Amino acid sequence: MQKVLVSFRFFNEWIKFLKDNGLEVKAWDSPVPPSKIWIKENISDADGLLCSLVNRIDREVIDAAKKLKVISTFSVGYDHIDVNYAKSKKIRIGYTPEVLTDATADLIFGLILAVARRIVEGDRLIRFGKWNQPWTPDFMLGTEVNGKVLGIVGMGRIGKALIKRAKGFGMKVIYNSRTKKDVDAEFVDLDYLAKESDFVVLAVDLNPTTYHIVNKDFIEKMKRSAFLINASRGKVIDETALTEALKLGKIRGAALDVFEEEPISSDNPLIKLENVVLTPHIGSATYETRQKMAEVSVKNLLAGIKGEQMIYEL
Ligand code: GLV
Repeated sequence: MQKVLVSFRFFNEWIKFLKDNGLEVKAWDSPVPPSKIWIKENISDADGLLCSLVNRIDREVIDAAKKLKVISTFSVGYDHIDVNYAKSKKIRIGYTPEVLTDATADLIFGLILAVARRIVEGDRLIRFGKWNQPWTPDFMLGTEVNGKVLGIVGMGRIGKALIKRAKGFGMKVIYNSRTKKDVDAEFVDLDYLAKESDFVVLAVDLNPTTYHIVNKDFIEKMKRSAFLINASRGKVIDETALTEALKLGKIRGAALDVFEEEPISSDNPLIKLENVVLTPHIGSATYETRQKMAEVSVKNLLAGIKGEQMIYEL
């Protein structure tokens, strides 16, 4: 019997699906991810690994696997996997792009609207019993989204889904990416994007070229009235530089779904800032999308084990 290791808490019905397909399944069952020791012990005789972004699949883990044919990740991001090393060992890698594009783009627009129109701040005001003045023309003013410039860093599937939404909101879109794309938006260099955007959105994957792509220098170039939005990976922003800039009013606000450390610690200074909207890495977290991701990741895993074509392979 072929064996698969599931190294994060996964849906029971999809674990059953794997068993119904004749596989022996060893599955981790806690929201707190397993230790590297546990993964190394259990991967040694596994034919396939189903992992998520909470698992670090580095050389050490890959070396502990003696029979592994496939790593299937329940994510679009793959910065948690040493892809080159796995490939050098002839291990195939599956991932889940496409199915989470719309959910993630929707969340990003939610973040744009929430931070620009101070939606979460307003909710907080009411809940903490601080809405104690009648309506006035200058109360809780936010920033208009219509007519503003959206600057997208990265132009993959999510970037394109953002353009579609931005048009509906009457925004002008500029973008920067490694290469110019055939999209209805203006290709600009990163400096220009930082200077001209009213909303900067990060839609890149994390790799050595995008690590801290938003740093002190980048933020210094942004308008004081601008907002920064990130639902990609925390490490694409130098969080210390961003926190400092927000404290000093160098930009107007930020909306973040991802952080350098997750979960963020309770003493992270971002928590204290009113002009920041924080969500706990929920870009793809809808019932519909998570089911599609489960189906794709499980089918990728099965295809990798059987030597068949995967739905999405790196
Ligand atoms: C989520 O962050 C993913 O990479 O799918």
